[in-house]
Amino acid sequence: MAVLYRDDLYSILYTEEQIAERVAELGRQISADYEGKSIVLVGVLNGAVVFLSDLMRQITIPVAMDLVAISSYGSYSSTSGVVRIMKDLDESVESRHVLIVEDIVDTGLTLNYLVESMRSRNPASVKVVAMLSKPSRHRVTVHVDYLGFTVPDEFVVGYGLDFAQRYRNLPCIGVLKPEIYAGSDTPPGL
Ligand code: IMP
Repeated sequence: MAVLYRDDLYSILYTEEQIAERVAELGRQISADYEGKSIVLVGVLNGAVVFLSDLMRQITIPVAMDLVAISSYGSYSSTSGVVRIMKDLDESVESRHVLIVEDIVDTGLTLNYLVESMRSRNPASVKVVAMLSKPSRHRVTVHVDYLGFTVPDEFVVGYGLDFAQRYRNLPCIGVLKPEIYAGSDTPPGL
């Protein structure tokens, strides 16, 4: 693993190899479930881009790709639940199979909003694949059809996930040392 930022991690939860193995499994499962169909992968910017780019290369059925950007009001630890689409899809998903690709499901508010938003566009179906989920932080019932890993209630970075826009390029997923964000307003609900 590249040593970049490694010292800022308290622990490594999933290595590059473990992630690659799990993403390949998810790709196989998705390809089997949608056999004979094509899907639109809807990636959520910015966190899901690393997962999206790896996952799509493990899927063997035809895929199209589109991206949305979401903003939620309030700080990380006190999300208001009000969510807004900052960048919408480029193409219509009417009558198409939509698979939302999310980095991490925390409170679940972003995902719930996005699922409802996609459903309102008359797609053939809407499903969700998320790399990570923090079940203990969920504030609403969220249904994730395909999940990479569950993580504890800690602030995690790497594999697309950031703190203040850093660490996205870490190939592993790890827990950020609390002293890194001490005094910061951004994360987390610890
Ligand atoms: P939710 O609406 O609370 O589920 O928020 C999900 C979004 O919050 C994710 O897409 C991430 O961008 C961000 N997020 C939640 N937990 C973490 C974390 O531990 N590390 C980095 N980003 C996180």
